[in-house]
Amino acid sequence: MREIPVGARSILPGRFLRIMQRDPIPFFRRMASECGDASQFTVGRQRVILVNHPDLIRELLVTQHRSFHKSRVLQRTKIILGEGLLTSEDELHKRQRRLAQPAFHHDRITRYADVMVQRAAAMRERWSDGAILDVHHEMMRLTLSVVAKTLFDADVEGEADDIGASLTQLIDLFPLLMNPMSTWLQKVPIPSTLRFRAAIRRLDRTIYGIIEERRASGEDRGDLLSMLLLAQDVEGDGGGMSDVQLRDEAMTLFLAGHETTANALAWTWYLLAQHPEVLRELRRVIDEVLGDRFATAEDYPRLQYVEMVLAESMRLFPPAWAVSRLAMEDVDLGGWHVPQGSVVAASQAVMHRDPRFWSEPDRFDPMRFMPEAKLARPKFAYFPFGGGPRICIGEGFAWMEGVLILATLAQRWSMDLLSRNVEAQASITLRPRGGIRARLVARGNASAI
Ligand code: HEM
Repeated sequence: MREIPVGARSILPGRFLRIMQRDPIPFFRRMASECGDASQFTVGRQRVILVNHPDLIRELLVTQHRSFHKSRVLQRTKIILGEGLLTSEDELHKRQRRLAQPAFHHDRITRYADVMVQRAAAMRERWSDGAILDVHHEMMRLTLSVVAKTLFDADVEGEADDIGASLTQLIDLFPLLMNPMSTWLQKVPIPSTLRFRAAIRRLDRTIYGIIEERRASGEDRGDLLSMLLLAQDVEGDGGGMSDVQLRDEAMTLFLAGHETTANALAWTWYLLAQHPEVLRELRRVIDEVLGDRFATAEDYPRLQYVEMVLAESMRLFPPAWAVSRLAMEDVDLGGWHVPQGSVVAASQAVMHRDPRFWSEPDRFDPMRFMPEAKLARPKFAYFPFGGGPRICIGEGFAWMEGVLILATLAQRWSMDLLSRNVEAQASITLRPRGGIRARLVARGNASAI
């Protein structure tokens, strides 16, 4: 086994921690271009290894996944997410995944499609020609309302608003969790910690209230929560989920299920505004498939070009910009020696622009996602949803949502960008720093729906 080369050294204590907190992507890109497939550095006493080849990413996420757990930064989010799908490990994770999986089956997602289109249609009705808005903010509102509706059903609209406000507060306070002192900081009654705890309490109250009401009525309302409530572990112990588990899963799906999709959509608008030829083709396809009518789940296969646009946008601006794992034992990872206790990271933001797999990697070109072009690339040159047993459970949901929302909005609207050279901020997800300001442009020849 070969030793992994050191990609960066510093004599200044805390330098890499600051880089990790502020601007990790250029740093990762530099390490990958200078050292190649595997390189390492240390943050404090923590060894961090960056792997940057599709074969190594497959080893990490699929072939050797048993030797790894989620890394400590993610473990710190347990204060919010408890033992939900994103954070749990081993047998508990397997059982929860079995229980939650039916809620994400294709036929179930098809039923959520109407909610996705209705919510996008309501937004496009509210928009007015020439109005200036922050696209990122709008997309967050939209995907939050979709996840609230599909998760908790229509009758809890008021509660969904409450949940939205508390969630936004939590996300804004997430950087607190990136700090290695966070476990200690969370115990100190400073204003940010108090706000954080209050937001969690509010969310807990709402979610437990809904669970209690649902258990009492025993009704299947066709939403995700009903699915989770009714789930029985037939392959395992035959039991269902406790209230605490339900709460953890609901919180996880809420958090994991809206910001990522919102980012993907916001970046897509940003790119479309700069590539009128792509917007023209997008609309040609949408017109051909939908004309003036609303999209449905059945239209999805024929909206392939819309999916390609979204895929290319997630290549350039992957909403999940890195995945990381903690080595639970010494591992031979494709011939490289990974010592126990190392954090191993793979970054979509780096891999998705690697010139070995992407010609002119910075150019926006949806044709890269034509089926034959996709087949010609190694699978893990593109992994916006991760891979292996921890692959995003919401992938099918996210594609359906992204495609239907984009099609519904683009039927009527395009945008003129007011923000130029928007920077990608690598927080928990890849957000546009400072948002994306744009002016709405009504489609001249669109007939009202
Ligand atoms: C464009 C949108 C999305 C992107 C890019 C995305 C990306 C990801 C990635 C990369 C992972 C794996 C993380 C890892 O391996 O460490 C993940 C996991 C997860 N995602 Fe998504 N996601 C998206 C949308 C959604 C949606 C809509 C939902 C739910 C409604 C969701 C729920 C989850 C959950 C529960 C997990 C944990 C799965 C497990 O470990 O079993 N995601 N997501």
